[in-house]
Amino acid sequence: MNKEAKTPASELGDVPIAEFRRHLHKLADWIADYRENISEIRVAPNDKPGAIRAALPAQPPEDGESFENILADVDRLILPGMVHWSHPMFLGYFGWTTTAPGILGEIISAPLNVNAMTWRTCPAATELETLVIDWLRQWMHLPNEFGGVVYDTASVGIMHALAVAREEAGPSTRKLGLTMRDLPRLRIYTSDQAHSSVEKAAIALGIGEENVRRVPSDKEFRMEMSILRETIAQDRRLGFKPLAVIATVGTTSTASVDPIPEIARVCREEKMWLHIDGAYGGGFAIVPECKWITGGWSEADSIIINPHKTLFVPLDFSVLYVRDLERLRRVFTLVPEYLRGDTVEAEKNYMDYGIQLGRRFRALKAWMIWRTFGREGMVTFMREHIRLAKLFADWIKIDNRFELAASVSMGVVCFRFIAADAGKLDNLNMTMVERINGSGRVYITQTKLRGRTVMRIGLGNILTTEEHLRNVWELIQKTAEGL
Ligand SMILES: Cc1ncc(COP(=O)(O)O)c(C=O)c1O
Repeated sequence: MNKEAKTPASELGDVPIAEFRRHLHKLADWIADYRENISEIRVAPNDKPGAIRAALPAQPPEDGESFENILADVDRLILPGMVHWSHPMFLGYFGWTTTAPGILGEIISAPLNVNAMTWRTCPAATELETLVIDWLRQWMHLPNEFGGVVYDTASVGIMHALAVAREEAGPSTRKLGLTMRDLPRLRIYTSDQAHSSVEKAAIALGIGEENVRRVPSDKEFRMEMSILRETIAQDRRLGFKPLAVIATVGTTSTASVDPIPEIARVCREEKMWLHIDGAYGGGFAIVPECKWITGGWSEADSIIINPHKTLFVPLDFSVLYVRDLERLRRVFTLVPEYLRGDTVEAEKNYMDYGIQLGRRFRALKAWMIWRTFGREGMVTFMREHIRLAKLFADWIKIDNRFELAASVSMGVVCFRFIAADAGKLDNLNMTMVERINGSGRVYITQTKLRGRTVMRIGLGNILTTEEHLRNVWELIQKTAEGL
C-alpha cells in the first residue's frame, strides 16, 4: 500500500489533545516518582561504552510509535544507562542543581517554545531575562553599571568577554580580523588552577592557545601575584601585548579564590581587561559570610556566574556581566534585513549581545526557582552544603589513612588516601574512585593537585543530607580497607 494512502487526513497533526493530556498526567507521576525514589537507584551505570546503542535499533523509525512504548524504553534502557546527577549521593564536580521549581520551570517553557532573539519575538522572555539578570546583579553586590546576558555556559561567556577585550585592544578587529595588520601578539594570564575554557576562548578568537600564560598558584591554589607581575613584565619586554587577566572565584579542583583586589590593581596599572570566572564560586556571594569573595568585583570588566552550578537553576543558565554592556553590543550587533522590522522600539534585543541568534526562554525557570526559595531559602541550602563539606573534612582529619589535599572551600573537599608506599598512592587513589563509582551507590571524582592524584567531592544537591554523606564516608573507608 502506498504510504500517503496509509495515513488518513484526520490523523495528521499533533497528538490529539485528550491523549496528550493523558500522557502529561502519566508524565507528572513519572517525574514525581523519579524524584521520590531517586536515592534507591544506582547513581551511575557500570556498562561498557556502546552498551546503550547496542540495545537500540540503529535504523531510524519508519512508522510512529506510542508514547507508552517510548516511555517504557526510557525506563528500560535510558534510565539505567544514566549518571543521575540529581541523586543525593552524586558528589561529582560541584554537586548539582535539580529542584522541583526548576523542573516545573523547564516544563512550562517547553510548550511555549519561543525564540527570544529580539524583544518583539517575545517581549516577556526578553524582559524577564533583563529582570532576573538584574536580581542576580543585586545579589552579587555588583554596581548597576554592570549589565548582563544569559548564555548556555561559562565557556561561551568567556569567549564573548574576551572578544570585547580583543576589540578594545585591537580596534576594528570585528571588521578587519587579526591578520596582516601588524598587531602585537595578545597575551592572556590566568592561574594554573583556572578552567580550560580560557584556552578554548583563545582558540576560538584567533588569539591562540599558547598565548594563554598559566601563572603558578600558591599553596592555597591562588594565583601567585609576584609571578603574575613578572610574567607580564617579561611579555612586555618581548613585545607582546598583555590583554587580560582571568581571575577565578571557585576553581574547578579546589574552589580556591584568587586574590582579586590585587589582580584588579595590576589590571588597572597595566590597562588590561579583568575577567572574573565565578562560574561556580560566584553564586556564594548571596551568603552573607561569603561576601568577602566579592572584593574587587566592581573593578572587573566582566564576570561570569553560573546559576546552573550553584544557584539551583538547572542546566543551562550562565550569566555574563560586562561593565557597560554596550561594549559587548558594539562587538556583536548585526541585524539581518529580515529581522530589521523586529528590532525597532525594542528595549533590548538579546541577539545583539552574542553570536547566538535563536535563544531559549531560560529566564522563566530562574524566575520561578528564585521566587520559590527566595535568597533566604537558597542561603539555607548553601550553608548546609558548607557545613557538610566541613563535617566531611573533620572525618578525614581523624582517620590517619587519609589527608586533606586542600583547604575546604565552599562545597568542595579534596582528599587523598595516604596509607601505602608513596610511589603507589596515585594509582591507589584512582582505583578507589573507580571502585567507589563502580558500586553504583556513590559518585565522586578525582583530580590532580601539584601532580598528585586526589579524590574530590562537591556538595550542592538539595537532596543530600548528613546521613547520605555518612554513607559515602563509610563506603570510602570500606573501599580503603579492601585495597
Ligand atoms: C571554574 C569554572 N569555570 C568555567 C567552567 C565551564 O563551565 P561551563 O560548563 O558552563 O562552560 C567550569 C566547569 O566546571 C568551571 O569549573
